[in-house]
Amino acid sequence: MNIGILGAGQVGQSFAKAVLALGHAVMLSSRQPESAEMQALAAALGVQVGTVEQTLAFGGLIAVALRWDAVADVTKQGDWTGKTVIDMTNRFGGASTLSGAQEFQQLVPGARVIKAFNTIGAEHYPQPVIVGQAASMFIAGDDADAKGVVADLTRQMGFDVVDVGDLAASRHIESLAALWVHLAGRAGYGRDIAFKLIR
Ligand SMILES: NC(=O)c1ccc[n+]([C@@H]2O[C@H](COP(=O)([O-])OP(=O)(O)OC[C@H]3O[C@@H](n4cnc5c(N)ncnc54)[C@H](OP(=O)(O)O)[C@@H]3O)[C@@H](O)[C@H]2O)c1
Repeated sequence: MNIGILGAGQVGQSFAKAVLALGHAVMLSSRQPESAEMQALAAALGVQVGTVEQTLAFGGLIAVALRWDAVADVTKQGDWTGKTVIDMTNRFGGASTLSGAQEFQQLVPGARVIKAFNTIGAEHYPQPVIVGQAASMFIAGDDADAKGVVADLTRQMGFDVVDVGDLAASRHIESLAALWVHLAGRAGYGRDIAFKLIR
């Protein structure tokens, strides 16, 4: 399938590598798609690079690999109608009573937002196995078909998929991301860690 990835940073690039390995076609978005740096990255990875509008038009599935503070701006660009959207962002802090993914959904009402990929270091996306165990990937969303598409892709990538429920349940996934960041950083466990739901 055609996968559009908004953001070409650590998360965007690592997700691109993981889905390219499964045979999908990728376009990464950039604010400077014509820059020498982005053209070199595109050639090295074997992807196309475009604007946000072009990337939205390219992908049936859209992965959002942006800093949270870019979301309000980017959701005003392009046509999000009917898109299955993976919200991979982490919105740490703030006083909202909604999860980040619920806020995201409100910004793109015509899209089907699924929360996933925010609870592990991005470098593990292409090979999500730590000490011989497949990392769990927690996903949440309201649309069963969209969640099924994301779950299938995530499973093909090698993750142990855990369906947490509807989009309101994404708040729990977002809390888990905060714990991952604490464990990897201040608590001193480093980035080669992952959550696993034993059941
Ligand atoms: N790093 C991880 O291991 C990890 C894992 C899971 C989830 N996350 C979450 O995933 C998101 C991305 O993280 P990252 O580490 O990939 O960050 P990053 O390396 O800083 O990349 C962020 C990307 O967002 C783009 N961007 C920033 N502002 C923009 C705007 N106004 N319009 C369009 N594009 C904009 C940047 O483009 P420019 O280069 O042009 O600035 C860059 O490509 C964050 O929400 C993070 O919390 C990170």
